Amino acid sequence: MSDRQITAVVLAAGLGTRMKSDVPKVLHAIANRPMIDHLMETLQAVHTDRVVVVIGDEMEAVAAKVAPHETVIQERRLGTGHAVITARDAIGGFDGDILVVYGDTPLISAETLGRLIEKRRAPPDPAVVVVGFRPEDPGPYGRLITDDNGGLEAIVEARDATPEQRAVTLCNSGVMAIDGTALNGLLDRLGNDNAKNEYYLTDIIGLARADGLPCAHVEGHEDEFAGINSRADLARVEAIVQNALRVRAMAEGVTMTAPETVFLSHDTRLGRDVTIGPNVVFGPGVTVGDRVEIRAFSHLEGATVGDGALVGPFARLRPGARIDADAHIGNFVEIKNASVEVGAKVNHLTYIGDARVGTKANVGAGTITCNYDGFFKDHTDIGAGAFIGSNSSLVAPVKIGDGAITGAGAVIARDIPSDSMALTRGPHTVREGWAKAFRERRAAEKAAAQAKKKS
Ligand code: UD1
Ligand code: CA
Repeated sequence: MSDRQITAVVLAAGLGTRMKSDVPKVLHAIANRPMIDHLMETLQAVHTDRVVVVIGDEMEAVAAKVAPHETVIQERRLGTGHAVITARDAIGGFDGDILVVYGDTPLISAETLGRLIEKRRAPPDPAVVVVGFRPEDPGPYGRLITDDNGGLEAIVEARDATPEQRAVTLCNSGVMAIDGTALNGLLDRLGNDNAKNEYYLTDIIGLARADGLPCAHVEGHEDEFAGINSRADLARVEAIVQNALRVRAMAEGVTMTAPETVFLSHDTRLGRDVTIGPNVVFGPGVTVGDRVEIRAFSHLEGATVGDGALVGPFARLRPGARIDADAHIGNFVEIKNASVEVGAKVNHLTYIGDARVGTKANVGAGTITCNYDGFFKDHTDIGAGAFIGSNSSLVAPVKIGDGAITGAGAVIARDIPSDSMALTRGPHTVREGWAKAFRERRAAEKAAAQAKKKS
């Protein structure tokens, strides 16, 4: 391990015009997390000592998001070189390694960054090391021009390249590591005499070489450099990340019947021997224990599911749902801010909100906790082993004691003591033969009326 420090400079001043959004580009989410956070986590993984984020005007939301990391504002967007020049005061007279990454290219891996830093520090101590990649379509990317010894000679932007240079397939990802002691001297000499009249950061390679300083490159995978300029790009990157999350989950012992239809969040935690059916969606903040089965078309968010539980098909677990071990949550059941304790069953067409369902309680089909009166949300407490009859309304605040039974179709608005039975139906009356007599009388009346009309 080297004791050289690393300062990362994140370029994120781009306007993101093609996103057609009021939200700064780098705050758009991938796997339910702002793309800038994906990048910040990767930087943390390579032990950067400092991060300076270059943002544009009116991007306070980005500054707030990355705090306590520093931000500098690049008021006029004059190119990637100019963006780094803007960060120069914040970087100060730093003699460690400067890592440059792009905020809108968040999939760079810690592994590639690690190799980049290693190469920067290894003999012959190159002033700049660039991450190259070989995209399917090199089209608009800058090209890495290498010499016979594999050293990096220059980066030429596609617009400024000769046809011969454009034929090079090794492209500039934009990610680079720069020796801090060389940086200032190189930035001082950047010009903007090029096709875009911008200060290209890429020009520091040619400048370093002219000074006799070696430069080098490492290669990364194309997927790491999928940049985001539009909503279509965002969806493409989402697909890459989703695929990686599925592959990781399966590698850790999760069975997925149709992985391409399962959507995960960056923080989804799944235990061993979990089975996930088709079309299941995990919002942020879900933790699932071992041996859980989540059946098709379920949606989970901010929920915890204990070992051996069964969820779905068509279940919805909303924030604050805690499903304990071996509990069953069935079809068309919604659980919000409620705990369903060990072995309890809530199997059909039910809303449980702001509640506790005790151990081994059984909640009948069509039960609704009426938790909201338009002003306050109140709690419903269902005791251990209680049995709630089908099609019941439990009007909160209300407490059903352990082992109590409520009859079907009840509206329960008062507490029910343990082991008692509550019924709220009217008296049940049966009139034998009444229906038959009714039909006969009405049929006779109708025939008489028709006969009178004809005469
Ligand atoms: C840049 C590289 C190109 C490389 C490509 C990879 C240069 C001159 N060119 O081109 O070789 O193949 O990236 O995607 O570096 N930014 C700022 N301030 C600015 C300009 C840019 O913060 O003034 C940020 C952008 O927000 C973006 C990144 O820098 O995150 C790259 O800028 P962009 O304009 O997309 O660079 P390219 O022209 O694509
Ligand atoms: Ca770009």
